[in-house]
Amino acid sequence: MSTRHIKQGKFAKIRKFETPEELPEKYRNLLKKMLFVQADTEFASVQQHLEWQQNSPSPEDKWVLSRIVADEVRHGLTMTRLLKQFGKEGEQMVQKLLARKIGEHTLDSFNIEFENWESVLAFTCFVDRVGLYQLEAFGECSYAPLAREMPLMLNEEKLHIGFGYNGLKKVISDDGYLGDMDSAQKAVNFWLPRALDMFGHSKSENADLAVELGIKKWNNIEMRDRYYQEATQLCESLDLQTPDIDEGRRIL
Ligand SMILES: [Fe+2]
Ligand SMILES: [Fe+2]
Repeated sequence: MSTRHIKQGKFAKIRKFETPEELPEKYRNLLKKMLFVQADTEFASVQQHLEWQQNSPSPEDKWVLSRIVADEVRHGLTMTRLLKQFGKEGEQMVQKLLARKIGEHTLDSFNIEFENWESVLAFTCFVDRVGLYQLEAFGECSYAPLAREMPLMLNEEKLHIGFGYNGLKKVISDDGYLGDMDSAQKAVNFWLPRALDMFGHSKSENADLAVELGIKKWNNIEMRDRYYQEATQLCESLDLQTPDIDEGRRIL
Protein backbone atom coordinates (compact mmCIF):
# COMPACT_ATOMS: atom_id res chain seq x y z
CA MET A 1 0.00 0.00 0.00
CA SER A 2 1.58 3.30 -0.96
CA THR A 3 1.78 6.12 1.56
CA ARG A 4 0.73 9.77 1.21
CA HIS A 5 4.17 11.01 2.08
CA ILE A 6 7.37 10.55 0.15
CA LYS A 7 9.53 7.86 1.68
CA GLN A 8 12.65 8.03 -0.46
CA GLY A 9 15.07 10.48 -2.10
CA LYS A 10 15.61 14.15 -1.55
CA PHE A 11 11.92 15.04 -1.13
CA ALA A 12 11.43 12.48 1.67
CA LYS A 13 8.77 13.33 4.25
CA ILE A 14 6.83 15.91 2.19
CA ARG A 15 3.46 15.08 0.60
CA LYS A 16 3.70 13.12 -2.64
CA PHE A 17 3.24 15.12 -5.85
CA GLU A 18 -0.24 14.81 -7.32
CA THR A 19 -0.07 16.81 -10.56
CA PRO A 20 2.58 17.56 -13.23
CA GLU A 21 2.32 21.28 -12.37
CA GLU A 22 3.80 20.65 -8.92
CA LEU A 23 6.90 18.94 -10.31
CA PRO A 24 10.29 20.66 -10.67
CA GLU A 25 11.24 20.86 -14.38
CA LYS A 26 14.00 18.26 -14.21
CA TYR A 27 11.61 15.87 -12.47
CA ARG A 28 8.79 16.50 -14.95
CA ASN A 29 11.01 15.84 -17.97
CA LEU A 30 12.46 12.65 -16.55
CA LEU A 31 9.08 11.30 -15.46
CA LYS A 32 7.60 11.94 -18.92
CA LYS A 33 10.47 10.02 -20.49
CA MET A 34 10.04 7.11 -18.09
CA LEU A 35 6.28 6.92 -18.64
CA PHE A 36 6.88 6.96 -22.38
CA VAL A 37 9.34 4.07 -22.25
CA GLN A 38 7.07 2.08 -19.94
CA ALA A 39 4.06 2.61 -22.22
CA ASP A 40 6.17 1.72 -25.24
CA THR A 41 7.14 -1.66 -23.74
CA GLU A 42 3.50 -2.45 -22.92
CA PHE A 43 2.16 -1.75 -26.41
CA ALA A 44 5.17 -3.39 -28.03
CA SER A 45 4.68 -6.64 -26.14
CA VAL A 46 1.09 -6.74 -27.39
CA GLN A 47 2.40 -6.61 -30.96
CA GLN A 48 4.87 -9.40 -30.20
CA HIS A 49 2.26 -11.65 -28.59
CA LEU A 50 -0.55 -11.30 -31.12
CA GLU A 51 0.81 -13.81 -33.64
CA TRP A 52 1.12 -16.39 -30.86
CA GLN A 53 -2.34 -15.74 -29.58
CA GLN A 54 -3.37 -17.21 -32.95
CA ASN A 55 -0.80 -20.01 -32.83
CA SER A 56 -0.94 -21.10 -29.17
CA PRO A 57 -0.34 -24.86 -28.75
CA SER A 58 -3.41 -25.48 -26.58
CA PRO A 59 -6.75 -23.81 -25.72
CA GLU A 60 -5.47 -23.14 -22.17
CA ASP A 61 -2.38 -21.42 -23.55
CA LYS A 62 -4.53 -19.38 -25.91
CA TRP A 63 -6.72 -18.28 -23.00
CA VAL A 64 -3.84 -17.21 -20.73
CA LEU A 65 -1.98 -15.50 -23.57
CA SER A 66 -5.16 -13.60 -24.41
CA ARG A 67 -5.38 -12.43 -20.81
CA ILE A 68 -1.76 -11.34 -20.94
CA VAL A 69 -2.43 -9.36 -24.12
CA ALA A 70 -5.44 -7.68 -22.47
CA ASP A 71 -3.36 -6.85 -19.37
CA GLU A 72 -0.55 -5.34 -21.44
CA VAL A 73 -3.02 -3.18 -23.35
CA ARG A 74 -4.42 -2.04 -20.00
CA HIS A 75 -0.92 -1.22 -18.74
CA GLY A 76 -0.25 0.80 -21.89
CA LEU A 77 -3.57 2.58 -21.42
CA THR A 78 -2.70 3.38 -17.79
CA MET A 79 0.63 4.90 -18.83
CA THR A 80 -0.99 6.94 -21.62
CA ARG A 81 -3.56 8.30 -19.14
CA LEU A 82 -0.70 9.44 -16.94
CA LEU A 83 1.07 10.99 -19.93
CA LYS A 84 -2.06 12.89 -20.96
CA GLN A 85 -1.97 14.71 -17.62
CA PHE A 86 1.06 16.50 -19.08
CA GLY A 87 -1.15 18.38 -21.56
CA LYS A 88 -0.41 18.83 -25.23
CA GLU A 89 3.07 17.40 -25.08
CA GLY A 90 1.75 14.31 -23.31
CA GLU A 91 -0.95 13.92 -25.98
CA GLN A 92 1.68 14.07 -28.72
CA MET A 93 3.71 11.40 -26.98
CA VAL A 94 0.65 9.15 -26.89
CA GLN A 95 0.10 9.58 -30.64
CA LYS A 96 3.73 8.69 -31.24
CA LEU A 97 3.37 5.58 -29.08
CA LEU A 98 0.33 4.33 -30.93
CA ALA A 99 2.05 4.69 -34.31
CA ARG A 100 5.10 2.64 -33.38
CA LYS A 101 5.70 -0.74 -34.95
CA ILE A 102 8.04 -3.62 -34.17
CA GLY A 103 11.52 -2.35 -35.03
CA GLU A 104 10.71 1.18 -33.83
CA HIS A 105 10.47 0.61 -30.08
CA THR A 106 12.92 2.08 -27.58
CA LEU A 107 14.21 -1.15 -26.06
CA ASP A 108 15.74 -3.93 -28.18
CA SER A 109 13.82 -6.75 -26.48
CA PHE A 110 10.58 -5.33 -27.86
CA ASN A 111 11.75 -5.19 -31.47
CA ILE A 112 12.13 -8.95 -31.83
CA GLU A 113 9.46 -11.30 -33.13
CA PHE A 114 9.18 -14.61 -31.29
CA GLU A 115 10.85 -17.46 -33.12
CA ASN A 116 8.78 -20.22 -31.52
CA TRP A 117 6.53 -20.98 -28.54
CA GLU A 118 9.50 -21.56 -26.19
CA SER A 119 10.54 -18.02 -27.03
CA VAL A 120 7.10 -16.72 -25.93
CA LEU A 121 7.54 -18.59 -22.64
CA ALA A 122 11.13 -17.46 -21.98
CA PHE A 123 10.07 -13.89 -22.77
CA THR A 124 7.19 -13.92 -20.29
CA CYS A 125 9.33 -15.66 -17.68
CA PHE A 126 12.38 -13.40 -17.96
CA VAL A 127 11.45 -10.16 -19.76
CA ASP A 128 8.13 -9.67 -17.94
CA ARG A 129 10.08 -10.29 -14.73
CA VAL A 130 12.22 -7.23 -15.53
CA GLY A 131 8.92 -5.36 -15.86
CA LEU A 132 7.99 -6.61 -12.41
CA TYR A 133 11.25 -5.26 -10.96
CA GLN A 134 10.68 -1.89 -12.65
CA LEU A 135 7.13 -1.68 -11.30
CA GLU A 136 8.31 -2.62 -7.80
CA ALA A 137 10.85 0.18 -8.07
CA PHE A 138 7.94 2.59 -8.76
CA GLY A 139 6.00 1.17 -5.79
CA GLU A 140 6.67 4.14 -3.51
CA CYS A 141 7.08 6.66 -6.31
CA SER A 142 7.05 10.28 -5.18
CA TYR A 143 4.53 10.96 -7.99
CA ALA A 144 1.36 9.60 -6.39
CA PRO A 145 -0.71 8.94 -9.55
CA LEU A 146 1.98 6.49 -10.73
CA ALA A 147 2.44 4.86 -7.30
CA ARG A 148 -1.31 4.19 -7.07
CA GLU A 149 -1.29 2.13 -10.27
CA MET A 150 1.40 -0.25 -9.09
CA PRO A 151 -0.47 -2.82 -6.93
CA LEU A 152 -2.81 -3.98 -9.70
CA MET A 153 -0.14 -3.91 -12.40
CA LEU A 154 2.19 -5.93 -10.18
CA ASN A 155 -0.45 -8.58 -9.61
CA GLU A 156 -1.04 -8.91 -13.33
CA GLU A 157 2.67 -9.18 -14.07
CA LYS A 158 2.90 -12.02 -11.56
CA LEU A 159 0.42 -13.99 -13.64
CA HIS A 160 2.54 -13.37 -16.76
CA ILE A 161 5.78 -14.56 -15.25
CA GLY A 162 4.07 -17.56 -13.67
CA PHE A 163 2.73 -18.54 -17.08
CA GLY A 164 6.22 -18.28 -18.59
CA TYR A 165 7.89 -20.28 -15.84
CA ASN A 166 5.26 -23.04 -15.74
CA GLY A 167 5.29 -23.23 -19.53
CA LEU A 168 9.06 -23.73 -19.61
CA LYS A 169 8.70 -26.42 -16.98
CA LYS A 170 6.17 -28.20 -19.18
CA VAL A 171 8.43 -27.91 -22.22
CA ILE A 172 11.21 -29.57 -20.22
CA SER A 173 9.31 -32.27 -18.36
CA ASP A 174 6.07 -33.06 -20.23
CA ASP A 175 6.62 -35.40 -23.19
CA GLY A 176 3.14 -34.65 -24.50
CA TYR A 177 3.91 -30.93 -24.76
CA LEU A 178 6.01 -29.33 -27.46
CA GLY A 179 9.75 -28.78 -27.21
CA ASP A 180 12.39 -30.27 -24.93
CA MET A 181 15.27 -29.34 -22.64
CA ASP A 182 17.42 -28.14 -25.56
CA SER A 183 14.78 -25.88 -27.05
CA ALA A 184 14.03 -24.42 -23.59
CA GLN A 185 17.75 -23.78 -22.98
CA LYS A 186 18.08 -22.12 -26.37
CA ALA A 187 15.19 -19.75 -25.59
CA VAL A 188 16.64 -18.89 -22.16
CA ASN A 189 20.08 -18.27 -23.69
CA PHE A 190 18.44 -15.89 -26.13
CA TRP A 191 16.21 -13.93 -23.73
CA LEU A 192 18.11 -13.76 -20.45
CA PRO A 193 20.94 -11.52 -21.77
CA ARG A 194 18.35 -9.25 -23.38
CA ALA A 195 16.39 -9.12 -20.14
CA LEU A 196 19.58 -8.14 -18.26
CA ASP A 197 20.23 -5.40 -20.84
CA MET A 198 16.81 -3.94 -20.07
CA PHE A 199 18.00 -2.63 -16.70
CA GLY A 200 20.05 -0.09 -18.65
CA HIS A 201 23.60 1.16 -18.29
CA SER A 202 25.24 0.56 -14.93
CA LYS A 203 26.32 4.19 -14.80
CA SER A 204 23.08 5.81 -15.89
CA GLU A 205 22.67 9.43 -14.83
CA ASN A 206 18.93 9.25 -15.43
CA ALA A 207 18.50 6.16 -13.25
CA ASP A 208 20.50 7.78 -10.44
CA LEU A 209 18.45 10.96 -10.81
CA ALA A 210 15.24 8.91 -10.63
CA VAL A 211 16.42 7.51 -7.29
CA GLU A 212 17.44 10.96 -6.04
CA LEU A 213 14.00 12.37 -6.95
CA GLY A 214 12.21 9.47 -5.28
CA ILE A 215 10.68 8.27 -8.57
CA LYS A 216 12.38 4.87 -8.22
CA LYS A 217 13.55 2.92 -5.24
CA TRP A 218 16.70 1.37 -6.69
CA ASN A 219 19.34 2.12 -9.33
CA ASN A 220 20.11 -0.09 -12.35
CA ILE A 221 22.99 -2.06 -10.81
CA GLU A 222 21.09 -2.95 -7.64
CA MET A 223 18.11 -4.19 -9.61
CA ARG A 224 20.13 -6.12 -12.20
CA ASP A 225 22.18 -7.93 -9.53
CA ARG A 226 19.11 -8.94 -7.56
CA TYR A 227 17.34 -10.01 -10.76
CA TYR A 228 20.30 -12.12 -11.87
CA GLN A 229 20.32 -13.96 -8.55
CA GLU A 230 16.65 -14.76 -8.96
CA ALA A 231 17.11 -15.79 -12.60
CA THR A 232 19.92 -18.14 -11.57
CA GLN A 233 17.68 -19.82 -9.00
CA LEU A 234 14.90 -20.17 -11.56
CA CYS A 235 17.22 -21.77 -14.11
CA GLU A 236 18.57 -24.15 -11.47
CA SER A 237 15.06 -25.18 -10.48
CA LEU A 238 14.42 -26.04 -14.14
CA ASP A 239 17.76 -27.88 -14.46
CA LEU A 240 18.85 -25.33 -17.04
CA GLN A 241 22.23 -23.60 -17.34
CA THR A 242 22.28 -19.90 -16.45
CA PRO A 243 24.24 -17.82 -18.98
CA ASP A 244 26.96 -15.69 -17.29
CA ILE A 245 25.80 -12.23 -16.28
CA ASP A 246 27.78 -10.54 -19.07
CA GLU A 247 27.34 -13.22 -21.76
CA GLY A 248 25.78 -11.86 -24.96
CA ARG A 249 25.13 -8.51 -23.34
CA ARG A 250 25.05 -5.23 -25.24
CA ILE A 251 24.26 -2.74 -22.52
CA LEU A 252 26.68 -2.88 -19.62
FE1 LIG B 1 2.84 -5.02 -18.54
FE1 LIG C 1 3.55 -8.52 -18.58
